[in-house]
Formats: sequence, structure tokens, C-alpha cells
Amino acid sequence: MMHVTPQAELSSYHTFSIKAYCDFLVEANSLDDLIDIYTHAEWKRLPKLPIGTGSNMLFTEHFAGVAILNRLKGKEVKEDESHFLLEVSAGEDWPSLVEWSVDNGMFGLENLALIPGCAGTAPIQNIGAYGIEFKDVCDFVEYLDLESLSLKRLSCCECDFAYRDSIFKQQLSGKALITKVGLKLSKVWAPKTAYGALQQLIDGEPSARKIFDAVCQVRRSKLPDPTVMGNAGSFFKNPVISTAHFAELKKQFPNIVGYPAGENIKVAAGWLIDNAGLKGYSHGGARVHAQQALVIVNFNDAVAEDVLAVAWHVRQTVLQVYQIELEHEVRFIGREEETNLATIFQDKNNERL
Ligand code: FAD
Ligand code: EPU
Repeated sequence: MMHVTPQAELSSYHTFSIKAYCDFLVEANSLDDLIDIYTHAEWKRLPKLPIGTGSNMLFTEHFAGVAILNRLKGKEVKEDESHFLLEVSAGEDWPSLVEWSVDNGMFGLENLALIPGCAGTAPIQNIGAYGIEFKDVCDFVEYLDLESLSLKRLSCCECDFAYRDSIFKQQLSGKALITKVGLKLSKVWAPKTAYGALQQLIDGEPSARKIFDAVCQVRRSKLPDPTVMGNAGSFFKNPVISTAHFAELKKQFPNIVGYPAGENIKVAAGWLIDNAGLKGYSHGGARVHAQQALVIVNFNDAVAEDVLAVAWHVRQTVLQVYQIELEHEVRFIGREEETNLATIFQDKNNERL
């Protein structure tokens, strides 16, 4: 029998740890549970929200629907001549999976160490860090098609992976619940240490374990631990702008940080925010993190409005100073559906008029 909590308080189910409520909270431990939830007569008309560990979401209001904790567990290792093929249920913990794979001699996930979240959420925004993205290790993604309630499978190239993006945020948004991921790890391992200061942190010949340790060390030094101070990682995405726009900005800001991204330039949003003097900017209990300006933290019992006020100020300042419109990476969960900063502040302004 599934456990259902009506009017559940959600602060321990998302890493911003802000008080938020939903109409029903339910834990899904199997595919049958998921099907029961989606066919439940009383819940048919209610919006549904799958939750992994809540490390990329902000509840902007009471969620008037069914929040579903994805607790599908299990992993299986297969192999062929050249690869280890891992099949991992969606509710497995991603950081534990990475450490377990390194400990068991299956290499390739080490750069993605310590990224909070469930394995089944990793494909949604194509998680990435330190020179690797989920797409580089993905074999397939299996999901429950929420219309037909049947399982479907996409190969890696069918997932339309891009920087912090995939088909699951586009055509399949709200239509698919990921149940399993397949990972493909080459038996011929090559270290990837080109990102930032990673190389300098590794003594002698790199090994997967050394990379894992180095990535953990850098992440611990920069990113706030959500169990100590609520946050959802990078609040905004790094914006991609034209080379002409970048060249203009470079004249005015010679130290601006950007990397080639196809024909364009991906700019370090953390640098933009930092250079605009916004580190430490706060509203109520929320503020721009002092060690990493791309992160907004709940440092003192913040409410969602505090985070929204800080985020809006950052967005407007960056727009004014650099003519760049930041997009948030964090998913905003509104009363019945996903929302975003622009919509929320437009509505607020309209109310005032
Ligand atoms: P949740 O926040 O629970 O869910 C995210 C979204 O996916 C929601 O819209 C939810 O409804 C939906 N969803 C959840 N499960 C499913 C499912 N099974 N099927 C369909 N939809 C689903 N990200 C990076 O890419 N790189 C980083 O380096 C990084 N560092 C971070 C550091 C910190 C300290 C924190 C707090 C976050 C960081 N993030 C990073 C963001 C976060 O770790 C990832 O987005 C992660 O994949 C979120 O997983 P989750 O299970 O917590 O997702
Ligand atoms: N920077 C500053 N000031 C700051 C923050 C950054 O000047 O306050 C500069 C840094 O000095 C560096 C550059 O900006 O030159 C990039 O900083 P960093 O290496 O910390 O990476 P990031 O671009 O801020 C991205 C991801 C992270 C991921 C890291 C490592 C996005 C939105 N964020 O951050 O992912 O862990 O690279 O690969 O792409 C997340 O998505 O939640 C996340 C944490």
C-alpha cells in the first residue's frame, strides 16, 4: 500500500528547504505504484509533480496537486567487450552511484561526482560539471509515457541533449516520467582533466579516483552544502551570446570570462553577477552566495518571495549592465504548473497597475 500524506509540508523534500505545501504527497516504490497514482480516480484531474531529491526546484506557491517522490530502486551491471552497461532505476541516488562505480572499477562518471539528485533526473537537464555532461555517458533513457501509461525507451541521440536541456524539458515536458537510465562506460578509460583548476589538483598520473577526489574537493570549496544552507546549485544558466556582443563587452570589461560555444560564446554568469557587485546581495532570508555568485542561498528562514526578489534583482542588474538576459536553471513550481521569473514579475506589475 502506498503511503499518502494530505497537505504535506515539503521543506525536507527540496534542497532550498523553504516551507511549502502540496495537496498530497505520495511515495512511489515501483512502476505499479506510479500507474496507480496516474489512474487514481480522485487524482485524475490534479496536476502531478515528480520529485527526485528536490535539488533543482523552488516552490513559488502551494502546489495544488500530487507530489510524487520517486523511490524506484535497483541497479544492474551488464557488459560487452568494450563497455560496462549500467541499468539504474530512476530513484537511485546519483552521487552514491558515481562513487560506487569508481570503487568498482567502472570509470567515466568521476567528473560528475557530488552532483545532488536522482539518477533518473540526470537526463532532464543533462547534468554537467568539470568537462562532462550526462549525454557523454548515456546509453538510453526509459520513461513512463503518461498518456498511454506504457514504458518507452529513447536512445541517447533521441534525447536531444544540449547544455542544461533535453527532450524532457521540451516536447516531453509533463508527458514523461523517467523510470530508468542506461549508462555506457568504456573499458578503455581516458582521463578528462582540462576543466579549470582540475589538473593542478591531481598529483602525478591521473586515475579515476584522483579525479573523483579532486572534483569533490573543488565542489566542497565553492558550493554551499544544502544540509547546512539551503540552495539549488547554480540558480541561472550560463548565457550564450554572439561573438560580436562578447567583443563589445570585452572592451568595457577586459576580465570577462567566456568560452567558445559553437559559433557563439558562453559567458560565466557567476562572473557577470560577481563583477556587478552583487555577491552578498540579500532580501529577507535569501542572498547571493559569497563564494559563488551563481548560487542563491537560504541563509535565514527564507520564504520563496525572498529568493524571487534576489533573483529578480540579479536578472535586472545583469540586463542593465551587460544587456544579457539570464535564464534560471532552477525549475519554478507554481500552484498548478511550472512558472518562471518573468511571468511572476509581469503578473506582480500588472496587479500594481
Ligand atoms: P528535482 O529537483 O527533484 O527535479 C527537477 C525537475 O525534474 C523537476 O521539474 C521535477 O518535477 C522533474 N523530475 C524529477 N524526477 C523526474 C522523473 N523521474 N521524471 C520526470 N521528471 C522528473 N546540476 C548540474 O547539472 N551540475 C552541477 O554541477 C550541479 N551542482 C549542484 C550543486 C548543488 C549544491 C545543488 C543543490 C544542485 C546542483 N545541480 C547541478 C542541480 C541538480 O543537482 C540537478 O538538476 C539534478 O539532476 C536534480 O536532481 P533531483 O532528483 O534533485 O531533481
Ligand atoms: N566566477 C567568478 N565569480 C563567481 C563565480 C564564478 O568570477 O562568483 C568565475 C570563475 O572564476 C570562473 C568562471 O566564473 O572563471 C566559472 O566558474 P565555475 O568554474 O565555478 O563554474 P560555473 O560556470 O559558475 C558551472 C555549472 C555548475 C558546474 C560548474 C563546474 C552552470 C549554470 N553551472 O558553474 O553546475 O558544477 O560549472 O563544471 O552551467 C549547477 O548547474 O547547478 C551547477 C552547480
